[in-house]
Amino acid sequence: GLGRDVERIDLAHNSIASLAGEDTAGLAHLEHLDLSSNQLQAVAERAMESLVRLRSLRLAANRLARHHLANGRAFRALGRLEVTWLSGGLFRGVPRLRELNLKNNGLVAIEEGALEGLRDLRVLDLALNSLRCVSGFRLPQVRVLNLSYNALESFAAGGEARAAPQLRTLDLSHNRLASLPLLPRGTGLRSLNLSHNAIAHVDANTTQAEHPSPWAARQAGPGVSWSGGDAAVGLATTVALDLSSNQLSALPVSLLRSLTSLHTLSLAENCLQGVAVGQPPWGPLPGPAAGGKEPAGALSVRELDLHGNRVRSLPRDFFNLMPRLERVDLGFNCVQLCSASKSGGPSEGGSGCTAFRHAPRLRHLSLRRNQLAVVPGRLFLQTPLSSLDLSENEGLVLPEGALAGLGASLRTLSLSGNQMPAGDLHFPCGLGGLKTLDLAGNRLSRLPPGLLCSPLEELDLRQNRLRGLDEATGAKLARSLRRLALAGNPFRCCELGGLEVLLGTAAVTVRDSEDARCSYYDGQENVTARIRPRQAWPCPQRLRRDYWIALAGVAGGLLCALCLACTACYLRKKGKGSLLLDLGRSRKVHPDRSELAASGQSSVDTSTKV
Ligand SMILES: *[C@@H]1O[C@H](CO)[C@@H](O)[C@H](O)[C@H]1NC(C)=O
Ligand SMILES: *[C@@H]1O[C@H](CO)[C@@H](O)[C@H](O)[C@H]1NC(C)=O
Repeated sequence: GLGRDVERIDLAHNSIASLAGEDTAGLAHLEHLDLSSNQLQAVAERAMESLVRLRSLRLAANRLARHHLANGRAFRALGRLEVTWLSGGLFRGVPRLRELNLKNNGLVAIEEGALEGLRDLRVLDLALNSLRCVSGFRLPQVRVLNLSYNALESFAAGGEARAAPQLRTLDLSHNRLASLPLLPRGTGLRSLNLSHNAIAHVDANTTQAEHPSPWAARQAGPGVSWSGGDAAVGLATTVALDLSSNQLSALPVSLLRSLTSLHTLSLAENCLQGVAVGQPPWGPLPGPAAGGKEPAGALSVRELDLHGNRVRSLPRDFFNLMPRLERVDLGFNCVQLCSASKSGGPSEGGSGCTAFRHAPRLRHLSLRRNQLAVVPGRLFLQTPLSSLDLSENEGLVLPEGALAGLGASLRTLSLSGNQMPAGDLHFPCGLGGLKTLDLAGNRLSRLPPGLLCSPLEELDLRQNRLRGLDEATGAKLARSLRRLALAGNPFRCCELGGLEVLLGTAAVTVRDSEDARCSYYDGQENVTARIRPRQAWPCPQRLRRDYWIALAGVAGGLLCALCLACTACYLRKKGKGSLLLDLGRSRKVHPDRSELAASGQSSVDTSTKV
């Protein structure tokens, strides 16, 4: 008997046990429905269909689990639902639930205690909701908690010492956090994702940390004081920390000092200009490693992603502070390399430039797109680089000696997208371990001879100015090459002898044979042809040669047949015997000449005279 235009109905705390299609028919304007704390156990499949405008539905404290499959079908009809409160006791009926996925539900809040009953819950996915705060939860077994893509401004596990003792993975990416999450000591967290937030400071003595918002202080609860230092306590076991896409302007050295298990750190896409390694109050800088021993106070980081900042230089002590660094991504910065000093090596860093000498464990380095003009000589001396990315530094010059010291270690080198002409690329012959070389996107009109010294397995030559590949080069490459890419070059079809050699080697595959083309002049115009691995591509010179060989063959054959016929005719008049005799003799005189027939005739002539 309700009017058709009713928008809000509150039926909480009644004894409703079922909901049929007729109960809701005609409530096309209903936007809010509260059915919490009833005895609801059966919702008809059609009961929700007429509620086309329903945006908010409260169903807490019912018995929906009794017919959960049928009830679940009913709720599929709710396309516009925006706000669902997960209120206390909601999951009381499913105490053994291990995994709960509430992703993408428009949740704006979770009432305290809503997840209380879930004692066995291991994985909780709350991503893609609109949660603004999460606090005071107790999830004794949860190992993975995903809160990415919400609207969190702060995260505090509460004053509870053992709120989530099993938590190992916490994804807080894509929120609005301005500070580190607060977790109690002994949490044992290993992976923390804070990417895409608004964190500008994380060190202990920042203003931000000293003056938390009243809300944040309240969330932290009694016994948890709000400071960066305390945040670090809860993160002591973290192995991977992703702080990419935030607003940090300095390397958080003091925080990193307390994260003694940290292995992988991303500070990509922040606002770092320098990477000042800091000075007291956090203690003096660690000295250089003495006698192979690690300096005291050194950080444990092995992989550091700094791409997409505005870093101009790494300070001189950088690799002393992080002696275990194995991988550094400095792509998309504006790093200035230290130019070669008079003594031949680059001047040591510190004066606003960067050198990579004496980084004892550095194996992977990217300097992609840094507007580098030249790689100074001996820049990587005593650094065991295995992969080096120098791509997208347009106009880069690689002079002699630039890769000195990398002969034994370098496996992968990228010089792609540098627009280097052949004269700017002094490729050394000493890279005895180089297996993968990317030279795509340059202006090479010939291959640097030095690269034939390396046992290359993968070579990318796309988008260059190569016209041909000669046979000697092809034969040298064929010794080790497995994969080749070569589209986008102005190849001449008749100058690809080396490619024929390579393709004759079964082991080599051309990655981009779909797009590879060569061209030739057919006497009237330039013709473009596809380079197909298993078929000969056209080349007019080769065609002409083949044509003449074929023509000569046909002519010779015809002549031969004619002569034989004439001889046979002539001899038929004289009798069979002498024909056999004569031919036999001529074979003896000219045992392997191809002009058998012609000479046969002359010998026939001679024998006739005799
Ligand atoms: C968290 O959820 C988002 C969105 O579904 C997903 O992209 C991300 O991989 C998840 N994180 C983890 C740690 O599983
Ligand atoms: C952190 O989240 C971002 C965005 O969702 C993702 O791209 C990144 O891979 C995650 N980092 C780690 C270490 O999982």
